[in-house]
Amino acid sequence: MSELVFRTVPNISLGAGKIAGLGALAKQYKIQRPFVVTDTGIVDAGLLDVCLDSLREAGLEPELFSDVVADPPAQIVLDAADAARKAGCDGVIGYGGGSSMDVAKLIAVLIRDEQPLSELYGVENITSSRAPLLQIPTTAGTGSEVTAVAIVTTGEFTKAGVVSPVLFADGVILDPELTLGLPALVTAATGIDAMVHAIEAFTSKRLKNALSDMVALKALDLMAKSIHTAVKDGSDLQARSDMLLGAMLAGQAFANAPVAAVHALAYPLGGIYHIPHGLSNSLVLPHVIRFNKPDAKHLYQQLAEVILFDQERSTDAGDVTEQLADYFLNLAKELGLPTTLREMKIKESGLQQLADQSMLQERLLINNPRSVNVTEAKAIYQAAY
Ligand SMILES: NC(=O)c1ccc[n+]([C@@H]2O[C@H](COP(=O)([O-])OP(=O)(O)OC[C@H]3O[C@@H](n4cnc5c(N)ncnc54)[C@H](O)[C@@H]3O)[C@@H](O)[C@H]2O)c1
Ligand SMILES: [Fe+2]
Repeated sequence: MSELVFRTVPNISLGAGKIAGLGALAKQYKIQRPFVVTDTGIVDAGLLDVCLDSLREAGLEPELFSDVVADPPAQIVLDAADAARKAGCDGVIGYGGGSSMDVAKLIAVLIRDEQPLSELYGVENITSSRAPLLQIPTTAGTGSEVTAVAIVTTGEFTKAGVVSPVLFADGVILDPELTLGLPALVTAATGIDAMVHAIEAFTSKRLKNALSDMVALKALDLMAKSIHTAVKDGSDLQARSDMLLGAMLAGQAFANAPVAAVHALAYPLGGIYHIPHGLSNSLVLPHVIRFNKPDAKHLYQQLAEVILFDQERSTDAGDVTEQLADYFLNLAKELGLPTTLREMKIKESGLQQLADQSMLQERLLINNPRSVNVTEAKAIYQAAY
């Protein structure tokens, strides 16, 4: 008998203009004083009014925290939690990209003052309750709105994850209108991040199952068909909607069948060189696919049917895996993203440090279909150089 575990957020809605229903949703979850967590990019993009207006129209008085920065450091989380407690907030709304939503998750726990942040890091270490939590993504990327993970920058080069089912939100609103102004390069990088989530969930060595496979395939089907349009014509609402739904489905997939070596090798690029998360993934993706070929080619072949939907595909699993790797290299080029570590001004002498750091991501490496040692990791970075 096969066994299966699949967990996700219980209340998800998608549609243009759905943000207008945020106030009603907050009331449904008994939030009276919402703490809205966002960053200045969202404020500058003019996205805040629709959020705050909806809350106020429902008779709620939101408290705003807009100091989140990309790859949020632990201190920002602590400052935000202090601000939320001082303002007497009883619910948290993440409004933005992965960074804002990750911070929101942790505040929803810390606001209860039952456990310090330092005790939360790692897998299933949250014993505290949490306040009601709603998530509204404005990028189609991390899928953080439906994952039970929050990533915090803890040192100069290091990030740590908090992983716990407590972090699954109560409700999610996917409103593609919020993503219309997302700049082309951010759309491209965050979109490839989302595609990587679905790919790595589908090829994950642990915990992949019929449901995670199903949502991963649907996610890639939606995103492979819409990513070009979303990048080239950001005002195309259907393409934006498909990317947003695809990124959320990919989030559901990897929340259950966790990501692997692409992310493990991407994290040091973010940690050491501050390369945005999606771009870091895109830089190593084709080379990890080639590395994984001996052990995952039949899975890549199934993915190729969806991703290379409009291409003639080899019937040989190994050859079609190469085609898939080429596709992602070309996709990054077509979308205007750099494709080599050299272009990112990384010195070749820095590859060893990257390889050493990637080995610290054991939480992710154990999910890879092929085991990776430090010499192989360095060879992958060399191929990406
Ligand atoms: N929790 C998870 O499951 C998970 C998964 C992957 C990554 N992450 C984390 O998420 C973070 C990356 O998230 P991200 O890629 O969404 O980027 P981000 O949240 O850092 O945002 C990137 C930039 O885009 C801007 N922006 C966002 N939406 C916009 C819009 N609609 N219009 C204009 N500008 C907009 C933001 O202001 C910001 O400047 C990293 O910290 C990463 O570690 C978390
Ligand atoms: Fe990611």
